[in-house]
Amino acid sequence: MRIRFQNNYKTMIKRIFLIGILLFVTTFSWSQVGGVKTKSDEKMQWFQDAKLGIFIHWGLYAVNGIDESWSFYNGYISHDNYLKQTKGFTAKNYNPGAWAELIKKSGAKYSVITSKHHDGFALWNSKYSNFNAVKGSAAKKDVLSPFVKALRENNLKVGIYYSLPDWSYNDYTHFLRDSIRYKAKDEPKRWNTFLKYYQGQLKEIADLYNPDLYWFDGDWEHSSEEWEAPKVRNILFEKNPNTILNSRLQGNGDYATPEQGMPITRPKDKYWELCMTMNNSWGFQKNDRDYKTPNQIIGIFADVISNGGNLLLDIGPKADGTIPKEQVNILNELGNWTAKHKEAIYGSRAGIPKEHFYGPTTLSKDRKMLYLFVKGNPNGEIVVRGLKNKINRIWVVGNGTKLSHKVVGKVYWSHYPGITYIDVPEHALDDHITVLALLLDGEVDLYREDGAVIESN
Ligand code: GLC
Repeated sequence: MRIRFQNNYKTMIKRIFLIGILLFVTTFSWSQVGGVKTKSDEKMQWFQDAKLGIFIHWGLYAVNGIDESWSFYNGYISHDNYLKQTKGFTAKNYNPGAWAELIKKSGAKYSVITSKHHDGFALWNSKYSNFNAVKGSAAKKDVLSPFVKALRENNLKVGIYYSLPDWSYNDYTHFLRDSIRYKAKDEPKRWNTFLKYYQGQLKEIADLYNPDLYWFDGDWEHSSEEWEAPKVRNILFEKNPNTILNSRLQGNGDYATPEQGMPITRPKDKYWELCMTMNNSWGFQKNDRDYKTPNQIIGIFADVISNGGNLLLDIGPKADGTIPKEQVNILNELGNWTAKHKEAIYGSRAGIPKEHFYGPTTLSKDRKMLYLFVKGNPNGEIVVRGLKNKINRIWVVGNGTKLSHKVVGKVYWSHYPGITYIDVPEHALDDHITVLALLLDGEVDLYREDGAVIESN
């Protein structure tokens, strides 16, 4: 009897303990969403809050208006003729301050510029190679340093794109699609010369600019071991433990980089960034007039942030340093929209599942504000399904108009909260996307069950 009592007592204590742990874990993960905050989450904070970055592809290819690097690699132009573009790379109307201001106006919080693309042409005065803007082009000046400075002056984060492959460098393996110089494993000494060169350039970049973010590219040409990727990661983190690396370092990065195509389903990576062109080219191509409209770009941007990502929108300046007017227009239009809707954008988190609202949504960090992105004219009411919260107030973001709502179909004998109808008057609509702010009575709470069935208990 005594033994039994002791046993029962022990199990009871055990149970209480287990329930305690369970309660702790559930409350904690609910309020943190995504679990415990790690050091890496801390360093990713600015990136996750930033939402919009501007990508810049600027290099020799802007002279002829051809594909960056790939045009010679794929044989559309000879390497010799490709190199002749150095004579046309003048940067004579280049105004880095104006670039940074335009970027800031677009609502972007960071910018990523091609310090060196696969062609190997460096925008800064690299001591490791004369093939750069100062020693090897008509510009005869460092065009990277003043831009980095202008970004910092405008409180924008600095991202440096750096291509691991360098197709013009004599001791690099790949050259043209159908001609490879050598294989790394066959000539380790030669490969080592290249490793020293590229790692030297990266150290140089780290010392000169201390970037907030490194955007690697072209990692597919070699394995992590061949690139010595973990070593490179260490070198950069030694210099700045808070710097961020994109994923293109053979699995040694901090966030995923889907390219061009907006993910249809929510990416599983915690941090991600869609890089996308405005037309069909990364660099300036006079012939490419196939621009997305500001409305389409804003729509894609809304989809991206609704799924918890960032948009890295690309511009391709001309060889003289001017930014094509179509691109300036897009950045300005985007800027008007982001400025008006900033509360729904910056610092927000991925929105609610699509079944609840047929459109993009975001949530505030504390999950008490739900933002609905309404494309075009809904011609009357919009619908939110299965929202368990009481809505304390609804207004049109950037405009302030208060909206009323009605809940229909609530089932008194189940948790099913019904369908919310919100009337959106035409006069409050935005030209691109209207955003509604819903102030909830607490953290967003959604009905995720199958339907309203009579519950047994
Ligand atoms: C691809 C291309 C490159 C471009 C990059 C941008 O990896 O190789 O030309 O710069 O995408 O994301």
